Amino acid sequence: MTVPIRILQIGDTHWAREPIAPGIDSLARFDSLCDWIASIKDPIDFIMHTGDWVHRGQLANDSGHSTRCAWKRLSLLGIPVLTAVGNHDHRHALRECLTESLPKDWKLHALDSDLERLAYWFTLANESFLVLDARASQQIDPRGEICPRQLAALEELLADTSRTWTVFMHYPPINLDCDWIDRTMLIENGEHLHALLASHANRIRGVFFGHIHRPVCCMKQSVLYASTGSATMHFPNLPGDAQALMQSDPIAFANYISISQLGALVKTQWTMLSK
Ligand SMILES: [Fe+2]
Repeated sequence: MTVPIRILQIGDTHWAREPIAPGIDSLARFDSLCDWIASIKDPIDFIMHTGDWVHRGQLANDSGHSTRCAWKRLSLLGIPVLTAVGNHDHRHALRECLTESLPKDWKLHALDSDLERLAYWFTLANESFLVLDARASQQIDPRGEICPRQLAALEELLADTSRTWTVFMHYPPINLDCDWIDRTMLIENGEHLHALLASHANRIRGVFFGHIHRPVCCMKQSVLYASTGSATMHFPNLPGDAQALMQSDPIAFANYISISQLGALVKTQWTMLSK
């Protein structure tokens, strides 16, 4: 058996210089998260941040400085960093950080899309990894949408039966049995995306997302979906929960994901934060 590819999925760090809410110092929590990752002795082939690096990166007047500060801090760990784009992110700054820090021998292939979205794929060993960008317009935020060109490009990629895929994105594409999440947080054409993935389910290792700030997992028509919890704040997700309440519990989540020909193994990890 070949050695699995080990990925640490983190997300929704919402880095900011000032506390983003009472009791939530996201900069200090990000530092704690990085220190904790540094203490993990087991192999990590790459870190995948599934979006919302920063808290205000989506605003027109954001310079991208916060994004670069957070990326630099995480990169100091010496592990390759990859990313999906969240609804709070500065897409251009993320693209620059990704391009500048990628190991020289890693080759990312752009996925055709509208609006220069940060959608790409790459291979490691015999596994293929795909990152989708569902960040659409401010009008539908915090929902997302996969543009038609991205869907068409994905359909073409999946037609190659020699490849197996692990997929990352920020937004959940499927219903999660929670009132406010299903109303306000999903990919608008997520069922279209799911149908496409389900038609190739035997070659989809898993679909990993963030945005909802808590770890959940489900199997839908043989496609595994799993989210990572936030390292900064958490949201309620039970069926009757009607709105997004920031929960400041001092816990940082991450998923330690192993990908091999046996499929995907997801071990949700967490650490207690000091602030
Ligand atoms: Fe978030």
